[in-house]
Amino acid sequence: MPTVPPERTRPSERERHQHRQVAESFGTDAERYDRTRPRYPDAWVERIVAASPGLVVLDVGCGTGIAARQFQAAGCKVLGVEPDGRMADFARRSGVEVEVSTFEAWDPAGRTFDAVAAGTAWHWVDPVAGAAKAAQVLRPGGRLAAFWHVFQLPSDVAEAFAAVYQRVVPDSPFNFQAMPKQGLDGYQVLFNKAIGGIREVGVFSDPEQWRFDWQQSYTRDEWLDQLPTSGALTQLPSDKLAEVLAGVGAAIDTMLGSFTMPYTTVAVTAARTRIA
Ligand SMILES: C[S@@+](CC[C@H](N)C(=O)[O-])C[C@H]1O[C@@H](n2cnc3c(N)ncnc32)[C@H](O)[C@@H]1O
Repeated sequence: MPTVPPERTRPSERERHQHRQVAESFGTDAERYDRTRPRYPDAWVERIVAASPGLVVLDVGCGTGIAARQFQAAGCKVLGVEPDGRMADFARRSGVEVEVSTFEAWDPAGRTFDAVAAGTAWHWVDPVAGAAKAAQVLRPGGRLAAFWHVFQLPSDVAEAFAAVYQRVVPDSPFNFQAMPKQGLDGYQVLFNKAIGGIREVGVFSDPEQWRFDWQQSYTRDEWLDQLPTSGALTQLPSDKLAEVLAGVGAAIDTMLGSFTMPYTTVAVTAARTRIA
């Protein structure tokens, strides 16, 4: 469960980006995060670069620098903004320049960019304040691209995992019961929030959604290595985490020790067409 499981939807619940404890918990094990989280397809990074007017990229919520390094490999000059100092330290050690701040509070100090990219991070940013800040720093025609890996666990795998989560962490604010059914539709709420924020700011072209389908096989050990980096699990007490890992590991054993995960990488993207 590498990315963004749906939350329970209760009217009283805060917006996802206001869950600051989870939002800034990924540095609990930055090394594991960087080692195990999926990369973005190269063709994906190239598409964003090709649709931007130049090669100067701001990576919002750059984490350990996974996307930032891919943009660098595509010839871009990249600055990361990242609120979690532990993630930022890792990114710096890997060759990415990073300023420690939330995007909303970050001071651009007059700097401008050809693209504002956010890999699996925009849901932690206030969608309106974030789009307004992106509009402020984008050059004319500059591109905002917020993108996510949507994972679509095969339904038998999802059901087995959901049963483990339900047993071990029944009170989690993350809705594991929805996992078997989620897929792209489950994420559309999140994409719509990004689209709404971009439209509200009023200086962008109409937002588009881009998608890229790919897949990755995981052995039991590979999946269990990545699982603790999930926002739903980073704050779990170690005994509960161990129980989740044991339960999920046993479920994968019944699948002959591996499974294939279909991923769809989806972007919400727009160009800055008017003055902010
Ligand atoms: C799931 S990680 C994604 C990291 C990286 N972009 C990647 O693709 O691997 C989300 C990142 O967003 C950062 N984040 C959370 N709230 C943020 C905010 N308000 N502004 C910028 N980044 C934020 C977190 O600290 C975390 O590093």
